[in-house]
Amino acid sequence: MEVKFLDLKKQYSLLKNEIDSAVQTVFADAAFIKGKEVEKFEESFANYCGVSHCISCGNGTDALTVLLKVHNLPKGSEVILPANTFIATAEAAVSNGLKPVFADIKEDFTISPESAESLINPNTSAIIAVHLYGHPADMEPLKKIAEKHDLKLFEDAAQAHGALYRGKKVGTLADGAGFSFYPGKVLGAAGDAGAVLLNDEEKALKAKMFCNHGRSLKYFHEFAGINSRMDTLQAAVLNVKLKHLDEWVEARNRVAKMYIEQLSGVSEIVLPEIHPETLDAWHLFVIKTEKRDHLQEYLKNCGIETGIHYPLSLPEQPAFASHMSYCGGYRALKESHTLLSLPIGEHLNAEEVVFVSEKIKEFFVKNI
Ligand SMILES: Cc1ncc(COP(=O)(O)O)c(C=O)c1O
Repeated sequence: MEVKFLDLKKQYSLLKNEIDSAVQTVFADAAFIKGKEVEKFEESFANYCGVSHCISCGNGTDALTVLLKVHNLPKGSEVILPANTFIATAEAAVSNGLKPVFADIKEDFTISPESAESLINPNTSAIIAVHLYGHPADMEPLKKIAEKHDLKLFEDAAQAHGALYRGKKVGTLADGAGFSFYPGKVLGAAGDAGAVLLNDEEKALKAKMFCNHGRSLKYFHEFAGINSRMDTLQAAVLNVKLKHLDEWVEARNRVAKMYIEQLSGVSEIVLPEIHPETLDAWHLFVIKTEKRDHLQEYLKNCGIETGIHYPLSLPEQPAFASHMSYCGGYRALKESHTLLSLPIGEHLNAEEVVFVSEKIKEFFVKNI
């Protein structure tokens, strides 16, 4: 048996008629930039999440960059974000002339509010919570900390489409959020795409203009912006897929629950937990084990694809090596060599989940 980590070909085969027809409409209209599908997606995603403004853009990195941009944070100020995340969270700070500062993570991989608070100083302007692997960060304590210290609080929701925190959709829990629709995400386009969610009309307008060369009218530019627009083709694909998001999140939750049931007796691994206050999107199902590399190799030989997210935490990356001075003792660094992402997604059936689980148990019984 072969178990794929991600199966976008299967997803396409199930949605082929809808996607092909949506793509054909874009070609028939020949409105490749700012076509009506883009507006439709912005409206639908804003409604889906329960926020007043969705501003589409070229990718998730730009979404986070624009989100920080429109908040006009003081140049050179510090932005606290978790040490274990994709580099884009930190790049958004750097490209705005801000300094990323890394907080440690909790057992559940999201930013530790205590660690974040300990890093606050008079030069701190914001905190970015990342709903890593689709698990919502604990926003309530973060909100209290942000309010107490008069900081902005943002969400990097690039991995958490459809997830809920205390009954509310992620992306609506702070001063604004950035989403990625990179193809492998829970809601993925057929290329790069992203969006900013905001509840502030003025900032939303600024974000919209910034993504489109700072223009308010054709060839009339209020300020210098960037070119980061969602292609109409991507919006057309996303409009089809958005209708399936809830059922996909449900399917991912079923797989996660099965893994937890199947693997709970294996003492050599630490499993992610199901939290009563959240509905996770389960973009990734990440286990921890000291035998990560051997287990990955064993599973590969059994036909099971896995991933590592991420091989290095951000302070371990050459790009941020100077941060090691205060991050050396972090859980994020101690655990980065133990992380293994198992296949998860709506493409998996129960038989495959059992197969993966059996092979993991077999590996530890054989004591390789
Ligand atoms: C946590 C996180 N933030 C930001 C991004 C950036 O998104 P994109 O790849 O669309 O620029 C990603 C996606 O890879 C991500 O996983």
